Amino acid sequence: MAKPIVDTEYIKEIEKARRDLRALISNKNCAPIMLRLAWHDAGTYDAKSKTGGPNGSIRNEEEFTHGANNGLKIALDFCEAVKSKHPKITYADLYQLAGVVAVEVTGGPTIDFVPGRKDSSISPKEGRLPDAKQGVPHLKDVFYRMGLSDKDIVALSGGHTLGRAHPERSGFDGPWTKEPLKFDNSYFVELLKGESEGLLKLPTDIALLDDPEFRHYVELYAKDEDAFFRDYAISHKKLSELGFTPS
Ligand code: HEM
Repeated sequence: MAKPIVDTEYIKEIEKARRDLRALISNKNCAPIMLRLAWHDAGTYDAKSKTGGPNGSIRNEEEFTHGANNGLKIALDFCEAVKSKHPKITYADLYQLAGVVAVEVTGGPTIDFVPGRKDSSISPKEGRLPDAKQGVPHLKDVFYRMGLSDKDIVALSGGHTLGRAHPERSGFDGPWTKEPLKFDNSYFVELLKGESEGLLKLPTDIALLDDPEFRHYVELYAKDEDAFFRDYAISHKKLSELGFTPS
């Protein structure tokens, strides 16, 4: 039997890496791209074939060069600096820990982190992550394939409270909110307000207003930040553990 990944020593390293990530993310103001990295490693999961998911495979050149991952090499390189100090920690754990810390240091909810993910050298074929130019059926197809729900789709879309789109990466431009380094419910408030100068809405963001089930949660999260934080923490943990059974 293979030796389990997690022992006392490993947990100590995780705590040290967590501190290093806090410092790195605050110094470089890179919370948004670290969260996007964690999401793109995890979001390839296919529940039927049990392939993809948060397994560190995004570090393979074959995968980080997928169109959807444009720009994420920056975040991979930031993580490499932490990995070289804590080589025991798997890439899979490190990327998910970075996502959790990114939400925490920007003022978002505390997300429970359970270590022990294994690394995979096998990358899924291109095309598993959502296409921002599409609508409701596509969003549901992609997230249901991961085993996630309508509520998860809306809560996790709130991740766009952080960061911005870059024309040279995705072809889109601008932040979703006025304070893109603050994790709050302003993504939903802005979404309900409609067009606002200088702020971005992707077709997949607007799709959250078109479906009655989605819209219910958009309205809830816009008026109740505590409900958003509670649900976001649950959905983020689910995303970060797709295909992973803690030992
Ligand atoms: C950025 C699409 C869901 C977190 C982006 C960008 C696109 C995009 C096109 C711009 C990339 C760039 O130009 O730099 C989508 C689509 C989603 C989705 C179609 C389907 C619902 C999510 C989820 C999260 C997330 C679930 C996290 C929970 C982020 C963050 C950024 C971002 C933090 C900003 C990155 C930065 O500032 O560098 N997303 N996204 N997204 N996405 Fe998403």
